[in-house]
Amino acid sequence: MPEVRPYYSVRSLSAAYYDLITQADTSLQGDVDTYAELAPPAGEILELGVGTGRVAFALAELGFSVVGVDLAPAMLAQAEAKRANLAPHVGARVMLQLGDMTSLNIGRVFDAVICPFFALSHLPAGAAWRNTFAGIASHLRPGGRAAVHMPLAELMQRPAPAPDAPVMRAPVDDQGRTLNLYVRERSFRPRINRFDQVLDYVLADAFGAVEQRSLERQTYYAADPTPFALEAGLQIDGSPSLLGGVGEIHRYLKPASDA
Ligand SMILES: C[S@@+](CC[C@H](N)C(=O)[O-])C[C@H]1O[C@@H](n2cnc3c(N)ncnc32)[C@H](O)[C@@H]1O
Repeated sequence: MPEVRPYYSVRSLSAAYYDLITQADTSLQGDVDTYAELAPPAGEILELGVGTGRVAFALAELGFSVVGVDLAPAMLAQAEAKRANLAPHVGARVMLQLGDMTSLNIGRVFDAVICPFFALSHLPAGAAWRNTFAGIASHLRPGGRAAVHMPLAELMQRPAPAPDAPVMRAPVDDQGRTLNLYVRERSFRPRINRFDQVLDYVLADAFGAVEQRSLERQTYYAADPTPFALEAGLQIDGSPSLLGGVGEIHRYLKPASDA
């Protein structure tokens, strides 16, 4: 097999076409509304794994100020490019920062901290999750709320689709070019609850000839985030809400005082 790149790496097609793919993904519908309910009007939100700003800019449109942290320069570059197309007062409400959610040190607190679309589950459950939740707790004001969107563990054990059948096909322009997505490999290691798949991003011209191709590995770890949240001093804030039949948003609360 040709070289397999990590997801969201520099020159990856997963970063270049992230917005196209998430626009077509109905399983994310409504997630921004859930995050908007966590903070007061015009409140301050910290987003971990901000990516291309899909959620951050939508929250900014609603009047929130957002600081977004991400480990992937290619995703942050997409976000910066999008800022240029927004009304200046909306773009100015989002601050993007290169950083690792497992070692957060923004230097101030927020009304809400969110970790959308499976960003935490890219990391192995264990020290990385413990450190992330410690950072979430220390960046929340007393009474502040957190939300973490996790994939449903049982879905990770689904068999792979046929490798030559595209799982997505979307037009990329009005010249007839398309992005075609194939799952070439999929595996689940139950001992460590690790799911891996190799996705083949194929950019084709109007006649179906391949213009560009990139194999990219996507990894998720399944576990319950709640023990890590409780260990960090957060409280459960209601039952997790199912989103799109493939994931759940877990909500937590930082107690208003230690009393
Ligand atoms: C599926 S994308 C979510 C992007 C955006 N939040 C959304 O909902 O559309 C996951 C993001 O998490 C980022 N990420 C993964 N590990 C990270 C880490 N340790 N620290 C910060 N960001 C991380 C990836 O680079 C990627 O941009």
